[in-house]
Amino acid sequence: MKKDNVIKAALLGAGTVGSGVYALSGMLEDEMIQKAGGKLEIKKVLVRDMTKKRDGIPQNVLTDKWDEILNDDEIQLVIEVMGGIEPAKTYITQAILAGKQVVTANKDLLAEHGQELLSMAEERDVDLQFEAAVAGAIPIIRPLKQNMTASLLTEIMGIVNGTTNYILTKMAEEGMGYEEALEKATELGYAEADPTADVEGYDAGRKMAIMASLAYNSEVVFSDVYTEGITKITAEDMYYAKEFGYVIKLVGIAKVDDGKIEVKVHPMLIPNHHPLASVRDSFNAVFLHGDACDDAMFMGRGAGKMPTASAVMGDAITVVRNILHDNCGWNGGLAYKKMPVKKIEETKSRFFLRLRVSERPGTLANIASVMGNNDVMIDQVYSKYTKDGAQELVITTGFVLEQDFNNALMILSGMSAIKEVCGRIRVYG
Ligand code: NAP
Ligand code: HSE
Repeated sequence: MKKDNVIKAALLGAGTVGSGVYALSGMLEDEMIQKAGGKLEIKKVLVRDMTKKRDGIPQNVLTDKWDEILNDDEIQLVIEVMGGIEPAKTYITQAILAGKQVVTANKDLLAEHGQELLSMAEERDVDLQFEAAVAGAIPIIRPLKQNMTASLLTEIMGIVNGTTNYILTKMAEEGMGYEEALEKATELGYAEADPTADVEGYDAGRKMAIMASLAYNSEVVFSDVYTEGITKITAEDMYYAKEFGYVIKLVGIAKVDDGKIEVKVHPMLIPNHHPLASVRDSFNAVFLHGDACDDAMFMGRGAGKMPTASAVMGDAITVVRNILHDNCGWNGGLAYKKMPVKKIEETKSRFFLRLRVSERPGTLANIASVMGNNDVMIDQVYSKYTKDGAQELVITTGFVLEQDFNNALMILSGMSAIKEVCGRIRVYG
């Protein structure tokens, strides 16, 4: 092997993902020649805290100085697994401008500045690979940029957050409390540094922005995505879901309708027979429908040390091969269209609505009349007395414009016969 068949890299970050990448690159050392045509040597690892004990990473490769990496001409590849917008954006920009190839798992950054960074990389003939940024170990970025581009993707629907899927699974199947399930997801390395991003749907929203941009070649940023998290889901909601033959999942949806992009993340009642209903634990799945490809589903571990490291190292192997074949710089995924994004009120959904009502004659008729007057079609009504003797009505609707549903709900909330609007969850259909 020639000396220059060893590609030197820097790893930015040695946390959950970074430590996995370092370990996996060691495990793959002997096979790198067969897999990539050359070896990969992680020469430097950037961290914040030089005093922290790092299992498996020798002290002599650690640095807390970015300039040592940027100014090292031997380092041809920068693998960013620090997270956050800054300083990651500055470091990646400087790396691209210095002609270094980049692999990143940073969805926060890509959901805000992905197009800017991709254009810069394209202009400089530099690789910017980010398979790990969406759905962990599942290959979905490359399919969206390459394999599925011959089809018009009419819908992308996915469970793209491992933490919330783990929490919802534990709540539904083991009756575990929300706090305990979140604590366990954090221990297992699934949750973000601030888990609010997971439970409020922001992390899934960022992944949907990235996927929608690639699928529709139109820039979609995180603030374009409607997000609603799982913090309001109760044991009662789970009970009714089960009774009606559904499971509750945090789902991301992207589609094109009337020349506009719809992109949203929210909890959803998924019928037991739908393939996404069986995606449990920290698994993620992305279900696509395209005009030519028909249905396709990608499923795998969406979070955690080694699954994420697997996606990062897959990209690193590609980049090593590209460097050795002088083939860097084709990234794809550029937004060459400018499609507007719909506001949530302009989209249509089916709803499950749980109301606590007073026992008065005519209550149901009044509710039906408010809904009818606002173009909300009722599908099913179910009535039940709770343990404390209150009457609960569970109503499912047909497909309604979200604005119409909100208008009806506002009037219902003000009615004296309605004691509480306990739950409102969208339903697959
Ligand atoms: P993490 O455990 O919090 O690790 C972050 C690492 O980056 C730490 O080693 C930290 O250094 C280092 N770091 C942070 N800011 C730095 C700075 N300004 N300068 C130098 N070093 C800095 O995070 P993680 O879970 O590994 O996630 C890393 C990235 O992968 C994020 O973008 C995340 O969204 C993404 N990701 C994570 C997963 C997952 O399952 N965890 C899956 C897919 C994608 P210290 O150790 O010194 O504090
Ligand atoms: N916190 C993220 C999740 C990590 O739970 O899916 C993977 O992106």
